[in-house]
Amino acid sequence: MKKYLKWAVIGLGVVFLGMQAIQPDRTNPPVDETQTIQSLLKVPPGVFSILQRSCFDCHSNQTKWPWYSYIAPSSWLVAGDVKKAREQMNFSEWGRFKGLRVISKLDQICMNVDQGAMPLPNYLVMHPSAKLSKAEIDTICAWVEAESERLSE
Ligand code: HEC
Repeated sequence: MKKYLKWAVIGLGVVFLGMQAIQPDRTNPPVDETQTIQSLLKVPPGVFSILQRSCFDCHSNQTKWPWYSYIAPSSWLVAGDVKKAREQMNFSEWGRFKGLRVISKLDQICMNVDQGAMPLPNYLVMHPSAKLSKAEIDTICAWVEAESERLSE
């Protein structure tokens, strides 16, 4: 019995090491300063610092890759989340949104933080400082409303 256990442990170790060979893409594409949300919209410093603190790791090209993004299998999950997040909304590539889509994206920002859907709850386990207070959520939603109104004029 002890012998089997030993081989089981060795087998798992080999599988774990083998998994490390599959490295996901962890690149931060260059930032074109003319396309960022802060250059295209009016983003007060108080709002920008909240977005930077709680959203930029996934929704920008300035991801700070955490240590567990270097170890499989968590590396695959983190890279997958960042890829999906950047596809749906990238604050470094805000210029991809035109016209009414800008306003609907802004709306989604308020909705997602208000419902506690963003930042992703599993991210908060490792990044408790990214959690938003009620006051910060209100700040974001007030900004979304003011900015949408300004853009609709
Ligand atoms: C840990 C990574 C992560 C963080 C941090 C994060 N998001 Fe996301 N976000 C995602 C992922 C992944 C998706 C795509 C979800 C999907 O497709 O199921 C997403 C989607 C979204 C969407 C699009 C939702 C839709 O219905 O199209 C919005 C808006 C959004 N996030 C806002 C935010 C805001 C605002 C913050 C900061 C307060 C934030 N997110 C922080 C990972 C993250």
